[in-house]
Amino acid sequence: MQDQIDTTKNDTLGASAAADFDVLTLEAKLLLKIETATDLGRLDAIRVDALGRKGDITGLMKRLRGLDPDRRREMGRELNSAKDSVRDAIEAKRAELARAEMDRRLEAERVDISLPPRPEAQGSVHPVSQVTEEVVAIFREMGFAVAEGPDIEDDWLNFGALNIPDEHPARQEHDTFYLPASGEGGRPVLRTHTSPVQIRHMLSSEPPIRIVAPGRTYRGDSDMTHTPMFHQVEGLAIDKSTHLGHLKGCLRDFVEAFFQVEKAPMRFRPSYFPFTAPSMEVDIGCSFEGGELKIGAGDDWLEILGSGMVHPNVLRNGGIDPDVWQGFAFGLGIDRLAMLKYGIPDLRGFFEADLRWLRHYGFRAFDAPTLHGGLAR
Ligand code: DAH
Repeated sequence: MQDQIDTTKNDTLGASAAADFDVLTLEAKLLLKIETATDLGRLDAIRVDALGRKGDITGLMKRLRGLDPDRRREMGRELNSAKDSVRDAIEAKRAELARAEMDRRLEAERVDISLPPRPEAQGSVHPVSQVTEEVVAIFREMGFAVAEGPDIEDDWLNFGALNIPDEHPARQEHDTFYLPASGEGGRPVLRTHTSPVQIRHMLSSEPPIRIVAPGRTYRGDSDMTHTPMFHQVEGLAIDKSTHLGHLKGCLRDFVEAFFQVEKAPMRFRPSYFPFTAPSMEVDIGCSFEGGELKIGAGDDWLEILGSGMVHPNVLRNGGIDPDVWQGFAFGLGIDRLAMLKYGIPDLRGFFEADLRWLRHYGFRAFDAPTLHGGLAR
């Protein structure tokens, strides 16, 4: 191999300079170094020494200029081929070392899956997750699908499209968290309710529609029954002849299934929401005897949700013709439902991440709520 380079032919450079151009020897040396590299750091140092800006091969490349044209062409070819084979060798070695490193880690970090489980379970299902699943299970049985939307909305979807114009007092009532404007579209907000999912869904699908949309919602409010982040489930049903009677029947079925009572006393109170007309708030009959809350008995009332027939402007903003379609909507507070059903007095405990609280109120992971298998407890 060595005799492929005939340095005697070189007549522009002296013999010693020509010897510097012993490309094959340099290549062989580099390949040996690469072959014996034991880690990725060392391999990279070799790459820099050979191919980096001040590397051996790069240095020789620069000196080609001083050679006569024939010699330059010949040496150029050799140098390029050396460069290719050094680069290929480095790549191959890099893959080999990376594989070895992965094998070493897999061996070192191996987990013995035959170990018995810890005797005491550490975590459990949070009441908010449990109640969300329960609510969804009930509505799914009635033919509702689950829809979702993002926590960050623009103020058009959160307010404007829902028939709440800029100057509307409802905007103040919501204690909205506004985010810095991004320059395009409306002003971003942390959604103050799950109602914008109604608009998103109307815009992305054709009626008839039957959805529930659970999710996080945000308002600047904090006391025993309010936290800045809380949870709602939105409901929306649109068809050609959907009417208030359907809404009442649907909510009654829901309440009886959720609280597991035969016949719940319910009160539908006229109310006002900009996105529904007519609007109603729904109360459930209960008693607070001896500090204990009992659903479906006694003569106290507790408000559990807002609802109504979808306002024609809202349908229009969702791209649906209000002369053909009509529907109902409702919004439930999940945290509130959880407090009522499981007797949890203070909402703030929900979000303090205290394991003792969770052990007290939490649910076993295997108790997935279904209507046929039982909702919980
Ligand atoms: N978005 C309302 C709120 O957070 C709740 C609500 C009321 C939702 C009536 C609805 C509805 O869909 O029809 O206060």
